[in-house]
Amino acid sequence: MTNTLKIDSVLRPEVLVIGAGGAGLRCAAAICENRPGTSVVAVTKVHSPQKSHTSTAQGGMAAVDPNDPMDKIVYHMFDTWKGSDCSADQNIIKKVCESAWEQIVWLERHGMHFSRTEQGRIAKRPFGGHMLNFGQVKAFRACYEADRTGKGIMDTVWGETLKYGITFLNQSIAVELLFDNDRCIGAVVFLEQSGKFVVILAKATIMATGGKTRMYQVSTNCKQNTGDGLALVLQAGLPVMDVEAVQFHPTGIVGPGILASEALRGEGAVLRNAEGEPFMERYAPTARDLAPRDLISRCIMKEIREGRGCIHRDHKLPHVWLDLRHIPEHVHKTRIQEVCGFFRKFVGVDPQHELCPVTPTAHYQMGGVPTNEFGEVQRNAQQIVQGLYACGEFAAASLHGHNRLGTNSLLELITMGKVVGDKIAEYIKDADLPPESPPEGTGCEIFSRFSRYFEARGKESYAIIRDELRQTMMEKVGVFRTGTGLSETIDKLTELKSRAGQMQLHSRSLVMNQELVQFWELDHLLEVSMVIAQCALARKESRGGHYREDYPERDPEFHHHTLAFMREYGNVNLDKRPIDMSIYEAKGEHYEKFGIIERKY
Ligand code: FUM
Repeated sequence: MTNTLKIDSVLRPEVLVIGAGGAGLRCAAAICENRPGTSVVAVTKVHSPQKSHTSTAQGGMAAVDPNDPMDKIVYHMFDTWKGSDCSADQNIIKKVCESAWEQIVWLERHGMHFSRTEQGRIAKRPFGGHMLNFGQVKAFRACYEADRTGKGIMDTVWGETLKYGITFLNQSIAVELLFDNDRCIGAVVFLEQSGKFVVILAKATIMATGGKTRMYQVSTNCKQNTGDGLALVLQAGLPVMDVEAVQFHPTGIVGPGILASEALRGEGAVLRNAEGEPFMERYAPTARDLAPRDLISRCIMKEIREGRGCIHRDHKLPHVWLDLRHIPEHVHKTRIQEVCGFFRKFVGVDPQHELCPVTPTAHYQMGGVPTNEFGEVQRNAQQIVQGLYACGEFAAASLHGHNRLGTNSLLELITMGKVVGDKIAEYIKDADLPPESPPEGTGCEIFSRFSRYFEARGKESYAIIRDELRQTMMEKVGVFRTGTGLSETIDKLTELKSRAGQMQLHSRSLVMNQELVQFWELDHLLEVSMVIAQCALARKESRGGHYREDYPERDPEFHHHTLAFMREYGNVNLDKRPIDMSIYEAKGEHYEKFGIIERKY
């Protein structure tokens, strides 16, 4: 089979964007704003960029409005640092929080329809962990477009890239990164609709493939979020960072885990246990239902474990309640209509009159491919990979450390997308062109991988392996973790990988072969899960979304980022990257708030 697979053609844009969601397109727009006429090819796995996962984001984008007499950028910086459990990089926190409002204005000027106050100003709502005056009272900082903020952002950035004439390759997947003497020069891309492989050689390659939590049984992520980008990076011998830090959003709609935005709690919704008690008051007396996600998810699981949860009548799954019945009708109708509709559609309840069943759902990965503050991908803590950039959820710069605050993700993808775009525009001015023809051996790795799928014989089922993977990750690498559970997971993942080699394809066609793509995705889910489990086992402490029941405290020994390499499945090598504490070290005003602080809400 390997012999029959071949490269069909070679494209030579100046810039290749892998992943056309909010981050990739904000980055592409920034490149073209700086250098109109730059040739950019954007590759997306989905049918159209509008189907990117960014479009599903609901609640808002954090930014301190300079006209707000109460809020200050330093409060936002502090909240982000505290929310990260003291493991975000302070140079990134400063850069992102300081440029937040400028990017709100950019979005608004380029067509985004933010919701407005009666005075005509951009409306803002509270979100978990965002507070005024260093943690004292909730802040109104999340700028939103009703409950479909991500859709507004996608419309805007997509419109900009269309204006600049960017070429899109839809339903296409990057399957191999290409290098020339350690410089990234593009990628091999598989076009699903034609079944052809093309080589794209570019001066700069940006990876922005987004989220990666489909290895969990209950997840808010769309089905394409299978960790392909991280797997490509690992296969290229590059590291991933902090992947043990997986965020569980407290309020997934029971069953599928579809996001029920934190905006609901921002608008006043309250979590209740089976006894009707608003239990967050016990755990977080100041922030209550607007405490950070890692904390609330653990509290919900604790309520359920201690017998104060409910069992859903249809799904037979444990859950707690989200109570929206007291929220005024006009708020239901104007600000949270879409997400309330999800409850009607997926669990048959009317949020205006009934309690809504919710449970924690895998939502976001704080970790990703390590980059510096310009989005340049790192080979290790000291060196970058020339020509390779990353931004958005795919990247770890790291704004979020081990726990992200809600609305800081849309903020990150827009602000860092712009920063990275500016950097690339400067880089491509003088960068050497990639070689005339693709390097020797181009496509060999992916051809042999696809050949394995075509040639494999056996009775193993893709769906069963995928489901066993999701169940194991949910139970043992979820909200709570233990050393024993993680070791068992690593053994299970080894078993699943060997069984995955005995799955047989039903069609030998390369054209629109969904099963072929699913086999490729399953490999990635297994590879990324293996690295998550091994990093989680190695981090013998609890920090943010990574909670070890056998090591429940934060430990100064682990005050570093985890870098992980895996060239061969199961063989994970770990390294460290220091956490940037530059705000603290500068000893400026309020610097003491950016030390290793207590995390109480
Ligand atoms: O709850 C939400 O609307 C999610 C926002 C986010 O993840 O930032």
